[in-house]
Amino acid sequence: MTKADFDQIVEVIDHWWGGPISTFAHPIFFYELGEEALVMHDGDTLIGFLLGFISTQEGRTTGYVHLVGIHPDYRRQGVGRLLYRHFSDACNKAGCARIKAISTLGNEGSIRFHLALGWRVQEIDDYAGPNRRRLVFTCELLRR
Ligand SMILES: CC(C)(COP(=O)(O)OP(=O)(O)OC[C@H]1O[C@@H](n2cnc3c(N)ncnc32)[C@H](O)[C@@H]1OP(=O)(O)O)[C@@H](O)C(=O)NCCC(=O)NCCS
Repeated sequence: MTKADFDQIVEVIDHWWGGPISTFAHPIFFYELGEEALVMHDGDTLIGFLLGFISTQEGRTTGYVHLVGIHPDYRRQGVGRLLYRHFSDACNKAGCARIKAISTLGNEGSIRFHLALGWRVQEIDDYAGPNRRRLVFTCELLRR
């Protein structure tokens, strides 16, 4: 992901989500955590991105998907699946045991997408603080 890609993501993200979400594309995910960030283009058109990074905590290395977005005209064509495959491969090579993402209960598209890709889901009532329930998706990675 280049700075020009990041700039474009910030410009399209509200439209792609259908509402204000641009604070989720915090610059930290490009400048400090952007090494594994991915974009996909069709010619000159940005059609998808994945903001993710590798985290190590308590000796466990995890690939974390913070945000994935696909251009509305390019959904259900396997773009998200492909971005996840590339990210998983990079995490696998970096020695991650698993990959993880979180979602809110109402985000049906995201839930269906992760389940279709074979991720495990767990509902945690206070994941994001008191009464801030989240769905936590994880996928164990196979042998490196
Ligand atoms: C969720 C999202 C990333 C999926 O990307 P995508 O490129 O459309 O997904 P794919 O085409 O790779 O779909 C893979 C499979 O996931 C499932 N799937 C994906 N989107 C789905 C939806 N909206 N409803 C039901 N199933 C869905 C399907 O089984 C699909 O396979 P199929 O099309 O052969 O049936 C995309 O819809 C998006 O950007 N949504 C808005 C942003 C968002 O909510 N991001 C996730 C939270 S950060």
